[in-house]
This record gives sequence, structure tokens and C-alpha cells, in this order.
Amino acid sequence: MERRDGEGKDDRPATGLGPVQLAVAWLETRIRRPASGSPAAPADKKVPRSTSSALATYGGIATLHSRHWDGPPREFFRVLDHLLFERLRPGARVLDLCCGAGHLAAALAECGYAVTGLDASLEMVRHARARVPRVPFAVADARAFSLRAVFDAVVCTFDGVNHLTGRGDLRSAFASVARALVPGGTFVFDALGEAAYEGPWRRSATVASEGTLYAVRGGYAPARRLAWTEISPARGGGNVVRIEQRCHEPRAVEDALTRAGLALATASPASAVGLTGDLAVGRTVYVATRPGA
Ligand SMILES: C[S@@+](CC[C@H](N)C(=O)[O-])C[C@H]1O[C@@H](n2cnc3c(N)ncnc32)[C@H](O)[C@@H]1O
Repeated sequence: MERRDGEGKDDRPATGLGPVQLAVAWLETRIRRPASGSPAAPADKKVPRSTSSALATYGGIATLHSRHWDGPPREFFRVLDHLLFERLRPGARVLDLCCGAGHLAAALAECGYAVTGLDASLEMVRHARARVPRVPFAVADARAFSLRAVFDAVVCTFDGVNHLTGRGDLRSAFASVARALVPGGTFVFDALGEAAYEGPWRRSATVASEGTLYAVRGGYAPARRLAWTEISPARGGGNVVRIEQRCHEPRAVEDALTRAGLALATASPASAVGLTGDLAVGRTVYVATRPGA
């Protein structure tokens, strides 16, 4: 794995958090655990399947993500150690929302928590199931999920909520989270604000993986508060993958939490709760609870 910066060029409007975040993470991590071909764990049959093509965008980079994204979830695990684990009993039920390829779910399961994963991308979930076969993973939309189980905690890490780009999406997702939590349950998540999209993330990068070179570039339109990521494999290596994110500032996040019936406990700059480097820039880590314990 090697990564070359875009020679520091600021090719605005190509900014992007996702791409640079991915590239930095890939640079900082090594291939440790390729997904195996293990059989899938059964998903909750009642979970609605996502039909929106916009949700399927991770499919084209699922293998890349699965192979190279193990460092950042390890960092976030340490954040959860400070913010969440002391609130949980051993074996507590934890939902990993927007779980991606299951890196964090694997770590939580390793700690003895009864983890369920949920992600809109079937391809990401396939990797997650292969990574931790004993964990159930559901393919569903964070904005409108309904699982049979309830949870003592829900986690949603590494800008999962920034992928909710539509008007009212945050509130819908938070309302789904509130329904999934037991009274007194805890919701820990992070969201990126403008400092992230306007910050060091505007660098472009190239990433080499498995013999393919990927150009990773992003953009940010401040007026629309919309960010995007384009990951372009060299010729013959597949299609360009575009992922969109919305900039969610703390005030909007807090408002959506309140409207969904969740109570904000803390909102901390990521650097204050243990994230480092580019992963911490412009990122706020929230702890909220479902009242009524
Ligand atoms: C940056 S990845 C984060 C993965 C994981 N949370 C982690 O920390 O490694 C974002 C994930 O959100 C998922 N996602 C995006 N929109 C979603 C939605 N509406 N519902 C559920 N998952 C979604 C994507 O498929 C992707 O796996």
C-alpha cells in the first residue's frame, strides 16, 4: 500500500473529507485481514432492504474499504472506551449503525458485547459478515430501520451521519435510533462540520492497492453544504465511485436529536476525546441518551 499526496495542490473545488480521510488511513495502516469467504450470518428478515441507488455507492469500494480501513475503527474503539463502555454492563446489546465492513463490530464482539451491524450497502455487509460471522448484520437504511431487537447502545462512527444528505434525514435516522434504544440507552456518534471539509481534506491523493492505482479526490460546495468524494481507479480497474456527504454543524445535529426525542449529553471536539491527526479535524463526537430509564 502506498499513497502519494496530490503534490499539495489545491485543485478547488475538489476538496473532500472522505477521500483524504480514506487515503490517510490507508497510508497509516497495513493490509492485515483480507475478507474471507465465510458464509453469511442471517440478517433480520423484517429489515427493509434499501432500494435507493444513492445508498449503494460504497459497493464499488467495499473491497478496498474492507482491506484498508482497520486503523481508524481501532482509534474510535478507544474513544468508545472513554465515552461508552463504562455505561454498559458486560454483554450489553450494541447496534453498530452504518457499520461498513464490520471493523468496529468485530472489536465490539471481541469485547463480549452482543453486537448487531446495519448498513445500506449489501457489499459492505458481505465483507462485515465474512469478517465476523457470529455477528448478525442487516442491510437497511439508517433513516428508516426497524429491528426486532432493542439495544442498550447505538454507535455510528466515522461520519456515518454525514452520509445522510437529504432534508430531514438526520431527524429520521435519529428517530429510528430512539426507537431502537431501551429507555436510558446511549447513542454515540460523530459528525463532520465545515472545518473538516474546508480543512486539510481538500488535498487530493493517489492510493495504490492490489496493483491498482486510485485517484482520490473530493469537493465541497459550501452554499449547499454538500461534499463529495470520487475514487477513480486507473484505466481497467473499475468504475469511478462517487460518495456524497452533507456538512452537519453541531447546532443542526443537536436540533435533530431534540426533535427525535433524544437528549444530548455531551458534544466534544474529536481531539478532546482521543482522535488524532486528520481524523480529528472538524469532527465532533456526540453522546446522547434516550430519556426514561
Ligand atoms: C465511512 S463508512 C463508515 C463505516 C464504519 N462506521 C466505520 O467506522 O468504519 C460509511 C458507511 O455508511 C453507510 N451508509 C451510508 N448511507 C447509509 C444509510 N442511509 N443507511 C445505512 N448505511 C449507510 C455506507 O454504506 C458505509 O458503509
